[in-house]
Order: sequence, then structure tokens, then C-alpha cells
Amino acid sequence: MFNQTAVNRSFWRATAHTASYTKLGHDATVDVMVAGGGIAGVLTAYLAAKEGKTVALVEAREVGGGTTGGTTAKLSAQHELIYADLLQTYGLDVAKLYYQANAEGLQLIRDLVNDLAIECDFEQMTSYVYSQKGKHTRQLEQEADAYKKIGAPGGVQQDMPLDIGRHLNTDSVLTMENQAQFHPVKFLNGMLHALEDEGGHIYQHTMVEDVQKQGDSFRVTTDTPYSITAKQVIIATLFPAMDPHSFYSNRLKPVTSHLLAFSSDNHLGGGMYISADDPKRTVREAWDGKSSYLLVGGETHPTGDSHSTEERYASLLHYAQRTFGTGNPVDYWSEHELLTPDRLPYVGILDEEQEGMYVMTGFNKWGLTNAGASAKLIVDLVLGKDNPYEKLFHPHRTWPSEATGGSGASSQTAPSLTEQVKELAAGDAFTTKVEGKQTGVYKDDSGNVHYLDLSCTHLGCEVRWNDGDATWDCPCHGSIFSGSGEVLAGPAKQPLKPIKPSH
Ligand SMILES: Cc1cc2nc3c(=O)[nH]c(=O)nc-3n(C[C@H](O)[C@H](O)[C@H](O)COP(=O)(O)OP(=O)(O)OC[C@H]3O[C@@H](n4cnc5c(N)ncnc54)[C@H](O)[C@@H]3O)c2cc1C
Ligand code: FES
Repeated sequence: MFNQTAVNRSFWRATAHTASYTKLGHDATVDVMVAGGGIAGVLTAYLAAKEGKTVALVEAREVGGGTTGGTTAKLSAQHELIYADLLQTYGLDVAKLYYQANAEGLQLIRDLVNDLAIECDFEQMTSYVYSQKGKHTRQLEQEADAYKKIGAPGGVQQDMPLDIGRHLNTDSVLTMENQAQFHPVKFLNGMLHALEDEGGHIYQHTMVEDVQKQGDSFRVTTDTPYSITAKQVIIATLFPAMDPHSFYSNRLKPVTSHLLAFSSDNHLGGGMYISADDPKRTVREAWDGKSSYLLVGGETHPTGDSHSTEERYASLLHYAQRTFGTGNPVDYWSEHELLTPDRLPYVGILDEEQEGMYVMTGFNKWGLTNAGASAKLIVDLVLGKDNPYEKLFHPHRTWPSEATGGSGASSQTAPSLTEQVKELAAGDAFTTKVEGKQTGVYKDDSGNVHYLDLSCTHLGCEVRWNDGDATWDCPCHGSIFSGSGEVLAGPAKQPLKPIKPSH
């Protein structure tokens, strides 16, 4: 185990109550059905209800149970270094529009927090990208030039605020002012109350399984006996739960990052920080209502690669202890996200042949402010209104390059399966061949052994063991399964298949 005292759970989910909504218990008919209770789905459901639409929000697990519940929760249009790249590759209009979209997304969240009086530890902050030993000074300067051209507030400076400057020996830093941070799960909980006040219906523990056109509506079937009929359907399930023609499977690339939370008196001078240098580190303060905490993250990698997650946690811990003098973490967790080839999200019509069905995905690790802009865009599409970001975020825009999903084998031939199972610690797993078939062997906390077919139930890639979080992770589109095979994150909808070994 990575650390004897720390708990493998997201700080945000540990410090906010879980929203309580029941399963879909009857057939329903609404104007708009939103699948996915993360920030993208919740904001869209609320804005649609506010426009007078009848809305059902359907979440497979619990609201905030996906990536929004495991994020770093910086609300910033400073997406590491992106604007010089967008400017050079696609021109000033694209760079400017992307900045404007995210500035507006942040403003929308800021207004909602204020207008609805949502208690979610929202704080105004400056965002910082820093470079040590001059490694990325030139890139920071180019990005600062791009800021001037697109009208973003900030630029290069030599020093960090004193509080953090004494920990990080930086050479140059790039600021973006008037950004913010918040507690994402508390924010979602506040938005759910507001959605209910607008007449919205919320169903948890209800997985959307299929969407079929029926006349001028859609029939949405779920893993309950009931279905929802809706005029318009929005798929905000991180990886799209509907993927006709494998359009999204062929383009989205899942990556996983890791975070640690430390009880800490370190104060970070009103800033949120991310390194330009490798290995990338992201740092911010957080608050549980009583004490302050330091969040340290990084170690991003393709989901389900064969490297040990334990070692990744250990390297973050080593960094935090060396840099900030922290003790042991209280919480540690992993979260995954989807990258697009051009660094812009896919938000808009899901498929040209499916008018009335929309998608929100591919937020490239900066989905919070992007979700604000995207929710507004989707609701404008639903209402038939023009929106300035429709072309920018259109999923079927021209491709500069293609992403390739990766698959690969990670196998380990055991001298004797029985011996290996005997040696296996509770909560651990290994992969091996059983009767010629790649098999995952997991021992649960009660000592029961689970033999699993490692073919992902989405499209068949081989899942890999994540020893830090005790999950099976799919490298192709980011499905995550528990040790015993239950779906923790889609696109997969079915658990890993159990195998019966003949011994
Ligand atoms: C480690 C990490 C740090 C990050 N830090 C930042 C940051 O500081 N700032 C920032 O802007 N962005 C950050 N991001 C990115 C940001 O968190 C995400 O882009 C954003 O949370 C995605 O929100 P979402 O609503 O699209 O997805 P999610 O929050 O994952 O919500 C999707 C929901 O859909 C549900 N679902 C899935 N399948 C179905 C189905 N078939 N039926 C019904 N429901 C279903 C899931 O259970 C889930 O709750 C970070 C990402 C990671 C991984
Ligand atoms: S998530 Fe698509 S094959 Fe596993």
C-alpha cells in the first residue's frame, strides 16, 4: 500500500456531503434529458431548466462521482501554455475565441455562486505557470505575447509571491489575474438545489444505456426498467455514452493524473500554481471548513499504461515533502480526463445524422471553465440560437491530426496459479494466462478471489491493473473497473466478465 495513514479517496468527495437522489422509478417525458452529473451536465441541465425547459438529469453513480469530483478545481483560463500554440497553429481568431469562451465560462460560474449564494469556498486567485532554472522562460515569454494579442490579463514576472517563492526556486513566472478556485462537489450540490428549484428532475444510480430516435423524440433506455422520452438529449458522460461510427473512440485519448492532500499551514500567497517544466506539478490550497490543506498533483500519463501507480504517488509525496516540508498525506486519488488532438473540446451536435442529440467531451484537463462556456453553447443550440463558440467547439471541425488509441499487452506468466493466489495480498491483483486467456486475478478484502476476463466490455482493449487505486484501467477510452470488475467509470456499461478457472 502507498501510505498506511492516507485514505484512497478524493479530498472533495471526503469533505462534502453526497447528494441524495433516487433511481429513475417510472417512465418520464421531458423536453431535455441530460446524461452525466459532472460540471458539464449539471450546468447544462440548470441553464436549460432556467430557460423554461422540462429537464431530467440522469447520473449513473452519484453527482460529482466522476472527474469533477476528482479534479484540482482551478477555475482558470490559463490552461498551462496554450495560447501561443493556438495562435501559431490556427491564428488569432481561434486563440482569442478560446480565451473569451473560458473567461465567460468562469464568469458564469462566478455569477451562479453569487446569485444563488452557493457556499463552495469560491476564492478569487491569480493563476501561475512557473519555470525553474530557465528551462521554459522563452515559452513563458511567447505565451505572454499571446496574452497581449488576445487581451488576457497577465504577463511574465521574475518573482513568485513570497509565501510560495521560498519553496519554489523559480526563474520566471507567467501570471493570469482574476481567476478563481472552488470546491467542486459543494458547487455541484448547490447547483442541484437550484436545478430542483427550476423544476428539474434528478435521478442518480441510473445509467443511460441506449438512445433511439422515435418520431420527433428520443427514447432513452436505462439500466432500470424505465425509460425517458425527450425531445433533445445531451450526452455529458465524460467519454460519450453514445458513439455512433466510433467517432469519439478514434479521437479521444484518456490520461490519468494523481493528487495528494496534506494538512498544512503553508499559505500560497493568493495563487494557484503549475509548472511548465517536467515532471509537471500542480499546487493549490484547499479548505475543509475547519483547516487548510495543500493539494499537490501531477504524474499525468496515458490511462492504463504499465507503470506502477504506487511509484507515482511516492514520487509526488517525495516532491511535496522536499518542497513544502509536508508530513504524510491525508487523501490520495487518481482521476482521468480525455484529450483531443487539437486541444479544443468537442461540444455540439453528437453526430450529423442525429439532430437533437448533443455531446460535451474532450476538455483536455481544463473542463471547468470550458464547461461553463459549453453549457451556454448547448443551451443555445437547444433553443436554436446562435452562439459564438459553435464552430470553435464543433466536434466535426477539420482535424489537424489524428489521435491514436493505444493498446498493448501486459502479462506475467506465473509458475503456479494456486501458489500465486495464495501469496496474493487482500486488495491486490495480478494478471496471468488461464487456459490461454489473459486473466486478472483479484483478492478482495474478505479474501474472495475474482478471476476476470481482461477484455474491456466497451470495445475489447485489455485493461491493466492500477496498483495505487486498486482498479482495472482501460488504456483505450478510459473505462475504470473495481478490483472485482464493477464499472466505476464508462464508457463501458457492463462489468468485466468473470472467468471460472478449472483448478
Ligand atoms: C487530475 C485532474 C485535475 C484536473 N484539474 C482541473 C482544473 O484544475 N481545472 C479545470 O478546469 N479542469 C481540471 N480538470 C479537468 C476537469 O476536472 C474535467 O474536464 C471536468 O471535471 C469534466 O467534467 P464532466 O462533467 O465532463 O465529466 P464528469 O465529471 O466525469 O461527469 C460525467 C458523469 O457522467 C456519469 N456517467 C458516465 N456514463 C454514464 C451513463 N451511461 N449514464 C449516466 N451517467 C453516466 C459519470 O458517472 C460522471 O458522474 C482536471 C482533470 C483531472 C483528471
Ligand atoms: S474504454 Fe473503450 S475499450 Fe475500454
